[in-house]
This record gives sequence, C-alpha cells and structure tokens, in this order.
Amino acid sequence: AAIPAGASLAIRARVLSYHAHPMREGEGAHRYIEDGLVVVRDGVIESVGEAPALLAGLDPALEVADHRPLLLMAGFIDPHLHMPQTQVIGSYGTQLMEWLARYTFPEESRYGDPAVSDEAARFLLAELLRNGTTTASAFCTSHPQSAESLFAEGERLGMRLVAGKVMMDRNAPPALLDTPERGFDESNRLIERWHGRGRLAFAISPRFAPTSSEAQLEAAGQLAADHPDLHIQTHLSENHGEIAFVRELFPWAEDYTAVYERYGLVRPGALFGHCIHLSERERGSLAERGASAICCPTSNLFLGSGLFDRDAALAAGLRTGLATDIGGGTSYSLLATAAEAYKVLALRDQKLTGHAALYMITAGNAEALGWGDRIGQVAPGFEADLVLLDPGATPAMRRRMERANSLEEELFALVTMGDDRAVAATFVAGRLAHRR
Ligand code: GUN
Ligand code: ZN
Repeated sequence: AAIPAGASLAIRARVLSYHAHPMREGEGAHRYIEDGLVVVRDGVIESVGEAPALLAGLDPALEVADHRPLLLMAGFIDPHLHMPQTQVIGSYGTQLMEWLARYTFPEESRYGDPAVSDEAARFLLAELLRNGTTTASAFCTSHPQSAESLFAEGERLGMRLVAGKVMMDRNAPPALLDTPERGFDESNRLIERWHGRGRLAFAISPRFAPTSSEAQLEAAGQLAADHPDLHIQTHLSENHGEIAFVRELFPWAEDYTAVYERYGLVRPGALFGHCIHLSERERGSLAERGASAICCPTSNLFLGSGLFDRDAALAAGLRTGLATDIGGGTSYSLLATAAEAYKVLALRDQKLTGHAALYMITAGNAEALGWGDRIGQVAPGFEADLVLLDPGATPAMRRRMERANSLEEELFALVTMGDDRAVAATFVAGRLAHRR
C-alpha cells in the first residue's frame, strides 16, 4: 500500500503548544494564541501565528477551516499500550501475574491468526484516533503476524507508530512462546520489512524479564547492539509479586533494573513501562543511561500495582512518559489517563497542573520516544498531527467551564472531565482522520 500523502490546509482555532516542561519553565513552557492560525503544507506545519496577521499573506488557494473557539493542540502520544488487549480491558479481580495467566495470555494466543490481528489493528488505530491519539508505541504478541497487521494498518492511515513483536520464551502457555533464535530472526525480518518505512518504527520488545530466558535477553541485547537507533520497550518494577519472581529467576542481579542493564537494554530510546517500585540506584541508572520511565496510572490503579513516584523521577533526572497501557489500563483517552495521574500523585501529595498534564501527553511523550524534534508540538517544521479539543463537549463540562477564570483552570478541568467526547477532530499529517 502506498503511504498517503500529507495534506495542505489552514486551521483557525485557539492554538496551544508546549516546547518545555511547565514544571521547569512555568508560563514560559507554552505558546497560546487565542485567535491562531496553523498553516499546513504537505503534512508539515509551515507557520503558526496570530490569524489576522497570517491570513493577510496566505496563499488564496489554501482552504481555511475556522474552528474557534475549539482548542488546537499537537495530537496525543501514547508511549505504552498492547495491541492484542482491546478485549482484555476490565477483566475482574486480579493483580498482574494472575491477570496475565488468567486473561491476557489466553487472549494473546489468538493473534497468530491474521483475521484476528487485522481486525484488532483496525479497531485499535481507529479508537486511538477517536481519542485524539496520533502516535503510539505498541506491544503486539509474540506472533510476527500481529506486528504485520499493526504496521500495515498504521501505514494505511499514515500514522507515526512504534510497534514490536513481543519476545517471550518461558513462563507462559506454549502457544505464546518463541525461542531465543526465533525471537531474534522474526524481529530482524520485521525490522527489514517495516522499520523506517514511511512513519513506522520497530521496537525490540522483550515482554519483561520473567518471560525471557537469559539466552533470550542476550538475543534481545544483540538486536539492540546491531540496531543502535531502535526503540526498546519492556516492563519494569510494576508489582511486588513480579519483583519477587525476578529476584528468584535472576539471583545474580542486585535489582530488577540490573537484569536489563546486563543485556544492554537500558539506553536512549528504551521505554520502561510502570517503574513504580524502583530504588534510587535504579532511577539513577535509568536516568544516566538516557532511558524513559512510562507511567500508566489507570493500569496501576486497576491492577492494584502501586503509585508512581513522579517527584522521585524528576529528582533523579529520569524522563517520564504517560501512557494508557491498554488493556491493563482502562481508558484509551490520554485526557482520562492524565486525570488519573493527577489522582495517583494526589495520593503521594504531589501535583500535576493542567499545563503539565497536557505537556506530558504531547511534547513530553514525544521526548520520551526520542521524537521531540518532529511530533508533539504545534510549531513550524513539525509533522501536522493535530487534535481539536472541545472544552464544552458535554453539558457538565459546559457548566464547569462557565466558572473557569484562567486558561490553566480551563485546561485542568478539561483534563479532569475530558475523554473521547472532547475530541472534535483528529488530523494525521494534516489529513482529517476522525471527526466527532
Ligand atoms: N508485564 C508484562 N506483560 C504485561 C502486560 O501485558 N501488561 C502489564 N500491565 N504488565 C505486564
Ligand atoms: Zn504494558
């Protein structure tokens, strides 16, 4: 399938974009234009500014869509979710290890069938776009077919996506197990076929230490060494039972992070899901090696895993992303996810402002993916992945917004109450990809 071409158009709206962390730069971290115009040329943002000034010199051939008073932001970025878990969400009553064994592994066993994985890939990406999410980093299953399905659908939609075939060779049902050699070869074939094609990227994806033998982790490390520019994604320190199991399986390791370190898997572009119960040594090591911690608050609450310590991550200089973790997570919406992050932090007496929340799900997550120079901002030269948000999407939201006296207050209420209903439209490379 051909990669769809980017569109050219101009969007007039309230424009909001982050170029730094609001917790470091305060009001200097964002640009807000009450009557803004964003000009998109061939899928790339050409200019951003005050509408009256920009309209004067605008190419008359360019269509201008006036969406005031909607809010135009960079499309949301979800740095951790599972493509084969759309029908696992809301499975009752267990913590991580039992949840995997009882619900998730049996479900994932279906994904070698192209009919199953094609249909799931179509559903997942359509649902992400409905929620304003234009980029994701996704785990598929151990079947190469599942990654084939997701890459093909991502290419059809022209989305910037990271995806990986999961590597797992122990402690799961036989139908899901590969071997060190197979995981290595299948990953290499997918890299050759898909990595760098259009906007697609392959992630080396050992599921987590408990489901990989040392030989497999070594193979993952070999892949990482062979492909220094690739993303790596896995799970780390999510649940106490998981951590105890890792201690049994890798008695030589001083802690969980040391297992990944040993195989060369802690580096820039490595995304570690959860990172709840880390020691100071582990946070320091992840930070020093340029890896990112990915906080998944709806999942952490749903599975009773624990509360992410954002302030400890900040103090360690550890870059932190914010993700849905579908289907341990319970919402596709990064607005709803940020609202749950606020509550997780509240339980730790930590804070997340509206600006910081919206930074995290746009420019912050772009930074975590190493793509902070191309997505996550509404600024010239950035790819035109955009979301139009409606802070008055529901009667309850409209009523709340009547009493919002500042931009921050409006944004914080939008994050707290918002979800897919607040997404009026989503654009991928300037093309309308969803309209409410
Ligand atoms: N750890 C290993 N696999 C998984 C998974 O699928 N979901 C979550 N939440 N944690 C994991
Ligand atoms: Zn996960």
